Amino acid sequence: MCGIFGYVGTKKNAPKIVLAGLKQLEYRGYDSWGVAAVETLKSNSKDQKSKTSKNTIVVKKKIGKIGSADVSDMPESDIAFGHTRWATHGGVTDVNAHPHLDCSGKIAIIHNGIVENYEELRKNLLKKGHKFLSETDTEVAVHLIEEYAKHTLFSKAVQKAFNEMEGLNAFIVLHADEHKFVAVRNGSPLVVGFGDGENFLASDASALLPHTRQVHFLEDDQMAIVSEKGVLIFNAKNGDHINPIKQHLDWSESAVVKGKFPYFMLKEIYEQPGMLADITVESRSAAEKLAETIKKADKTYIVACGSAGYVGIAASYMMSIVAKYQAIPVVASEFAYHVPFLTSKSVVLALSQSGETMDTLDAVKKARKKGAIITALVNSLGSTLYREAHQKILVGAGPEKAVCSTKAVTGKLAHLVLLSYALAGKGREGEEVLKKTVRAVKLLLTPKNTKRILSLAKMLSKKEHIYMIGRGISYATALEAALKVKEISYMHGEGFAAGELKHGVIALIEKGTPCVAFLPNDETYNDNLAGAMEIKARGGYIIGVSHKPNDVFDFYIPVSDAGVATVIPNIIVSQLLAYYLAIERGYDPDMPRNLAKSVTVK
Ligand code: F6R
Repeated sequence: MCGIFGYVGTKKNAPKIVLAGLKQLEYRGYDSWGVAAVETLKSNSKDQKSKTSKNTIVVKKKIGKIGSADVSDMPESDIAFGHTRWATHGGVTDVNAHPHLDCSGKIAIIHNGIVENYEELRKNLLKKGHKFLSETDTEVAVHLIEEYAKHTLFSKAVQKAFNEMEGLNAFIVLHADEHKFVAVRNGSPLVVGFGDGENFLASDASALLPHTRQVHFLEDDQMAIVSEKGVLIFNAKNGDHINPIKQHLDWSESAVVKGKFPYFMLKEIYEQPGMLADITVESRSAAEKLAETIKKADKTYIVACGSAGYVGIAASYMMSIVAKYQAIPVVASEFAYHVPFLTSKSVVLALSQSGETMDTLDAVKKARKKGAIITALVNSLGSTLYREAHQKILVGAGPEKAVCSTKAVTGKLAHLVLLSYALAGKGREGEEVLKKTVRAVKLLLTPKNTKRILSLAKMLSKKEHIYMIGRGISYATALEAALKVKEISYMHGEGFAAGELKHGVIALIEKGTPCVAFLPNDETYNDNLAGAMEIKARGGYIIGVSHKPNDVFDFYIPVSDAGVATVIPNIIVSQLLAYYLAIERGYDPDMPRNLAKSVTVK
């Protein structure tokens, strides 16, 4: 969702550095953007007061994408911050975009999250004479800080205001006369980057890679005072000083640029064989440790949202097939109804790319309160979920920049293959299955096969609907495949358990309706084929994704058998189909409308 980037140092092109930082955060999804910088007008006066009064904050903010916009019309400055906004309170307008200023124009703020008690705070501030320009909750925060700054130090004013605001928020505040940022977080992510004579703040560590690899992830209720000279961290509740925990980011910078690929999504699809090979050789022992925890549990819930939720469904089938273990997959936003059944022996396995998905974090919080053991499979180092879990595995897919999840989905699945085999006491076999998977994925990504999928997308691009069917683990594949098509190509896709066809779904089939049938070499093959036949008998166009061709298929996409892990190449087929459909239909697959990469609101 919203992105934050701040620079303070000795370079005079801070607005430009900030705009470049915001471009790194575009993938999070946004509808407007803005930058603020301090302009220092030279004065010959010896009087300190008149000198400082020459500092003003210049703001540039606009709705829409950054595109080729530049900030060369902004003043030279060595301190600036910027924001990409995904509207929550107040429509998508230039005025509602961040940064927001206080009445004096001396204090600027950028903000991620929602100030839940903003209405009440706004009423009080109006009574005190504050003038509001926007409809946002954020503007309330900057006026509250202005109010407190009349009587106390700027950083103390930010601290006091923060403690009065309810909700999960991250703020960076800038005062025209103080060469520093005051940043504070509760819930929404914020990371400090340490440079040489310069320092940074961002909502996402990957945006810092062009500048530094030394970072401190702010914890909830931590406040940072960031200037070019250094970074001071405090407990925002009691003011105690805290030593930063510097972490080194070991991602390569090439992970955050498109390189030879036209879109991040395609690049991330092609990164999958390498990532899967790494997981195969590096991750068995972590899976075995997690299996030990799960074996002691009275029950295990797998909790996640969207694509990660479908990974959870696939994992529950895998654990059942491979280890005869029952794990219960639950959509995180519906987890409240399972909370009464949790005990201190229950394990919650949370799956997430970002580690910041509000519904998933909320489910974890509820489970924690019941004393359950929180485990996590998460891709973002330093994320809230990563830090909160008692036991965690880092997916290791590297930064995912396209809004829709690809490599993090298959990366999680690969770990869950290892976990399922570890639960069965067959860790080595799990590695062998993954080796086969890597070969299957490499074969799928050869030009011959990708061209086939492109030709299919060209043929289907004008269709309004597409259906996906599967049984067993391929039911999860069908759900994920339909979501991928919907979210980036805007074609209506629906995934079904093939057995459900005759209970109503089949009414949707007419002549030429495309239907993808996932038919791996498993116990579901014959029943699923019967479903495909029922659709074909009603005029449907059958796209078979399978290890062998069949007369029922109107179009065949070969996928080599990799046992339970065939779900991985099957999902990659749907990633490619969705990608090519988006391109053929004229959409940007990296930035689908209305969607955000990390969903940090409920
Ligand atoms: C779909 C997609 C979303 C995410 C979901 C959970 O392509 O990306 O459905 O899977 O929002 O996000 P994370 O995994 O970050 O918790």
